[in-house]
This record gives sequence, structure tokens and C-alpha cells, in this order.
Amino acid sequence: MTDEIPIVLDNVSYLYGKGNLKKQILFDISNNIKAGEVVILTGPSGSGKTTLLTLIGALRSAQQGSVKVLGHELNNAKERTLIKVRRQIGYVFQSHNLMDSLTISQNVQMGLKLGSAGKRESRERIASVLKRVGLEDHLNKYPSALSGGQKQRAGIARALVNRPRVILADEPTASLDKQSGRDVVELIQELAREDGAAVVLVTHDNRILDIADRILHLEDGHMKSMTEAVSEGASRMLNLLGKHEPANASYLAAFSFALARVAYADNVVTDDERTEMRRILHDVAQLQPAEVEFIMELSMMQNRALSTTDTRAEHGALIADRTAHFIDSLYAIAQADGIVGSDEVSEIKAIAAEFGIDYAPPPGA
Ligand SMILES: Nc1ncnc2c1ncn2[C@@H]1O[C@H](COP(=O)(O)OP(=O)(O)O)[C@@H](O)[C@H]1O
Ligand SMILES: [Mg+2]
Repeated sequence: MTDEIPIVLDNVSYLYGKGNLKKQILFDISNNIKAGEVVILTGPSGSGKTTLLTLIGALRSAQQGSVKVLGHELNNAKERTLIKVRRQIGYVFQSHNLMDSLTISQNVQMGLKLGSAGKRESRERIASVLKRVGLEDHLNKYPSALSGGQKQRAGIARALVNRPRVILADEPTASLDKQSGRDVVELIQELAREDGAAVVLVTHDNRILDIADRILHLEDGHMKSMTEAVSEGASRMLNLLGKHEPANASYLAAFSFALARVAYADNVVTDDERTEMRRILHDVAQLQPAEVEFIMELSMMQNRALSTTDTRAEHGALIADRTAHFIDSLYAIAQADGIVGSDEVSEIKAIAAEFGIDYAPPPGA
């Protein structure tokens, strides 16, 4: 194993066409994607997602910047290098691209590197990967006998039979119903974790954003962090919160914002305070890791944006039996770095007062 980062993008720009018809599609994209990391790439249709994926996949070359995949520079690379890299990548497409005249097991065999394994080992590898995707009873069937979700899973098996260290998936759920779509991405995520692969998954399906370790957003060829994307429009945030009950959603918004305010009261948010915020969001609000990160970013941002204005929001959802925990959590944040400053205590008091609570700090604080 090496510690090398499997995907390193550095100031990548891409243009289609020549001369007067030249059109720039990607602008200065930089990002690193680590082994075992699942990154979701979102963005409107035409924003450049597929183009970026094909650059990472060694299927085309950028005119500017550097694309390093599995240690190889792909820009201006020899065809031999591109082929070598392509063989180490698992591609999952929107449509499964299975060959109708071959059985499921023969289709998967097509994905197996030639000469990489003996006959018997090949057979075992194929059977085992098809078992992992839950198709062990369909080895000898033809694609026409399978459902959409099953075909998509066969496509994944074919992409993964070589245990690739990079998995690229372009809208793998587009042709699936909600449940099969979810099953498919969870499967990709699980296989990525087990094999330590770096995954880039393109989707505009908001319902699966929570499987990501990180979400990148493309807009007109410019890469934005989720924070930037959210600050331009709160709709994604609302979508995410919409998965929770409305009462919980407004509680969560008020809660996370209050946590950020306390952590910021002394104008520095330490790593310990961040860790504590994450823990509380996870434990109290029972959020997925990706959601915790999302709320963290959002609450920090919200805090910065609103710190100079009247922050009294709608706190109606902070119902009585949560109040004690709420205040305890605020105190835990302030305490995370071992010092509870007087400015942090005043901030807790101020927040408590906004919620109609008369807060007295514990003795010795
Ligand atoms: N082969 C091509 N030649 C010229 N323009 C293209 C080509 N492929 C895609 N484009 C254009 O590049 C832009 C980005 O396309 P694409 O990467 O497919 O976006 P997405 O996957 O986000 O929908 C679009 O404006 C599209 O029309
Ligand atoms: Mg596309």
C-alpha cells in the first residue's frame, strides 16, 4: 500500500472544439480525492460533470492543469499510460451497458483483465463479485431476464471485478426507482470502504447525498464547495433538512446555529470545540456523518453572516424537554477546549435568555 492520493486535480481547465467554436467547459478545478473516500459530484445538467469524470477516467485529456490518477500524470501522457490507468479504474455508467448476447457471468468476465488470473481463479472471482452484489442466483441468466436494478448491479460487478482503486460512476441511479437507486449507491459505498477505493459519483439525486464523505458542486464549469453552493441558495439545505420532521428540522437549525455561536463567542473556534460540535450533532440529532459536516459548515457560515445582525430566529421548535440538553450542549462546546471564558458564558446566557430560560452557569465556571 502507498499513501499516495489516488486522484489529484490541479487547476484543470477543459475546452471543447477548435478555433472560433472553442468553448471552455471546466475552469481551474483543483481537488484531491483520497483512498476510501466517497465524493459526490453534483450540479445542473451541462455543468461539466461528465466531462470532469472522463478526464479523471483517462478517457480524454485536459488542455491546462494537471490530472494525476494513481500516480500517473494524464495530461500529455502517452497512450500506453492512459491505457494502463484505464485498466485500474472501475467505470459505472448511467445505463448498465451489458451485452445482451452474453450471460451475467460472461458480462462480468469481460471486465476481468486479460491474463490477470487463471481460469479457475477467474471463475471464483466472478462468482464472488456477483455474490457481493446479490446476484449469485443469476450467474447464467441473460440481461433481458433481470430487472433494472439487477442489471445495474451486474454493471457494478463488472466494474469492480478487478478491485479497482478508483471507481467512477456517472448517474448510476438515473434509470432506477428510489429504493433500487439507494441500494446501488450503498453498494458502491460499501465496496469502496472494503477495498479502500476512491469513488467519484455523479448525481443530481438529492436523496442520496448523505452517503457522501464530501460533496462537490459544479456550476457552469466552476467547482464550488457545498458551503459556497449553499450560501448562494438555501434549497439544498432545505432538501436535506426536509428528510427530518419539520419540527426537528427547525430545532436542528436553531440548535446548530446556537452551538456555533457559543464556539465563536471568544472569536476562535478550536479543533476541540469543532469535535464536540460534531459529537453533539451526531448524538443529539442522529445525523449521518455527511449531514454533520454539512450542518457544521452551514452553522459556521450562518454565524459569520448573522453575527452582526439581530439573530433572534424562530425558536418555537425548542420544546421544553429539549431545553436542558440544549443548554448542557452549549456548555459542553464552550468547555471542549478546557477553558470556559466569560464571553462564552455571556453568550450562553444570551442564547438562553432568547429562549426564555434563566441560565446559571455551574459553580466554578
Ligand atoms: N463532445 C462534445 N463536444 C462539444 N461540447 C460538448 C461535448 N460534450 C459535452 N459538451 C458540452 O459541454 C458542457 C458540459 O457537458 P457535460 O460534461 O456532459 O455536463 P453534465 O454531465 O454536467 O451534464 C455542455 O454544455 C455540453 O453541451
Ligand atoms: Mg453528465
